[in-house]
Amino acid sequence: MSVLTLVPEGQSAEVPDGLTLREALARLGTEVLAPCGGEGTCGKCRVLVHEGAAAPLPEENALLTPEQLAQGLRLSCRVRVAGPMQVEVPASSRRPAMRILPGGVNRPVPIDPAVTKELIHLEAQKLDQPWARLEHLRFSGELRADLRADLDLLRRLPALLDGEPGTFTAVLREDRLLDVERGDTTGRCFGVALDLGTTTVVASLVDLTSGREVGHAAVVNRQTTYGHDVIARINHTIEGEAQLEELRVAAVQSLQEVIDQALEKAEVKRDEVYEATLVGNSTMMHLFLGISPLSLGHLPYVAMFNDALEMPAHQAGIALNPVAWLYMLPEIAGFVGADTVGAILATSLDEDEGRIRLMADIGTNCELALRHGKRLLVTSTPAGPAFEGARIACGMYAAPGAIEEVHLDGTVKLKVIGGGEPRGLCGSGLLDAGAELVRHGIVDETGRLLDPEEVQNPAWRERLIEQEEEERALVLAWREGEPPLALTQRDIRELQLAKGSIRTAIDFLLEKTGLTPDDLDEFCLAGGFGNYLDEHSALRLGLLPAMDPKKIHFVGNGALVGARLALISRDLRQRGALSARQAEHLQLAGTPDFQMRFAESMLFTGGAQ
Ligand code: FES
Repeated sequence: MSVLTLVPEGQSAEVPDGLTLREALARLGTEVLAPCGGEGTCGKCRVLVHEGAAAPLPEENALLTPEQLAQGLRLSCRVRVAGPMQVEVPASSRRPAMRILPGGVNRPVPIDPAVTKELIHLEAQKLDQPWARLEHLRFSGELRADLRADLDLLRRLPALLDGEPGTFTAVLREDRLLDVERGDTTGRCFGVALDLGTTTVVASLVDLTSGREVGHAAVVNRQTTYGHDVIARINHTIEGEAQLEELRVAAVQSLQEVIDQALEKAEVKRDEVYEATLVGNSTMMHLFLGISPLSLGHLPYVAMFNDALEMPAHQAGIALNPVAWLYMLPEIAGFVGADTVGAILATSLDEDEGRIRLMADIGTNCELALRHGKRLLVTSTPAGPAFEGARIACGMYAAPGAIEEVHLDGTVKLKVIGGGEPRGLCGSGLLDAGAELVRHGIVDETGRLLDPEEVQNPAWRERLIEQEEEERALVLAWREGEPPLALTQRDIRELQLAKGSIRTAIDFLLEKTGLTPDDLDEFCLAGGFGNYLDEHSALRLGLLPAMDPKKIHFVGNGALVGARLALISRDLRQRGALSARQAEHLQLAGTPDFQMRFAESMLFTGGAQ
């Protein structure tokens, strides 16, 4: 064991020798970013070692400059504890505060939650009322005849219903009496809708009496420490039960953290929350329950379960009111999970409104759902983490300091989340930058960043620089005392991979139904990235097929909206389950001409927008 001290905080703890610094810092409660999952390839887990590090390893020599190494900058996923150490974690390596994606669409539904409260004025039982206390409560409150109580509640009843008259509140969940509370608590009945995203975890706290959202919060999924995408997480579980348990605990802790943040902001107590609904992709749902997701990692990419699940929340490790229940929305297929069912509910794709509508929920995985008359078709494609800022040299989450808009208009104009100096580039900024480079002819159709001699405009020519290993890059922002913020040739390739994958899936779904983009009445874009992207940039790069931009609508975090709808409406809960059963899943991976389509879709051949 050795003492690890965090400076300047001064916090220290004994940690086992042999742990990586990143693992050891996690024990001190400090999470370091690790988009590559600790593989030593992203270079984003940098920390300043003031004392105690051994000589740099080859991966560090490759990802850090000699000057940075001389300053003490090291990769926390490579350096191991082997004696007392003093370490500083720069703000750029810490988990950022997330930008919260607004609730998005608002589908009006009658408020009919699974959990309700009933006020009961209980009188003392008379001689001619010799029935059980529970029956007395039921008669007095005119509660349903088939009401049942669990053993836990039966054990608490003698202390609660001691025969004295008084006012009580019955907490009901359909045919279950969940609890009996003293006094009138009918005005305090809350539920929480949860979206367990691969990158971001979001909670929406809802007053179940009015259906109104009273608070929300977002945090980075703690599982990102084990890899940025679902494949990295699935691969982590190959190592064994302990690794699966690490991911389960990380998911539970992320959910509890985001719930507690939302509760604190809204001044609601855990005890006042009686129901939670949860959406997420299939891998997240498996990991959250501690179920091995290995079957999702190889053909034919099947889940262990697809059904909606419900259970006492505490059984899944979530602390709310002790009697609270958790409802997990159903999944459709291996890579079309409960988050897609949520987005289908949010966009009313569960109904045949007589319009042809396509919804794309863009994250590290992109799910698509198409409503065409009676048919609901779904497919999915791995979009990769580029739009989440990973595998991009200066990439970062959509958090304060991230460039979210790029305009090249004689000069470079950047819009930074929260204002101030840019720290990196998030997904929408990456898309804009790519579209602008194409518009100004700095990148050609194949995605090649031109040599300075090939570029006419001197303003762009001087921004085209050569980085290590002769890699071409375009400077977006010069920074004092730091390397410039630049978009590299490799970043453009990553953008092409993500864009090509999404576009291939859109074309595939339309083709399978004999439709063209012109047939679409509406194209809904959902998800953290989908909500902030510029439709003109998406059309120019060919991420979306040529269509009237007026048909494109942003629906915010559709998955979360769906979880919220399932929280306040039992009907919508059922409609989600029905849609999941009826949806036709089209498997894109493995189709004969997939590679050819994908290669074509990677070209920057959008329309002039
Ligand atoms: Fe350390 Fe990626 S290089 S987490």
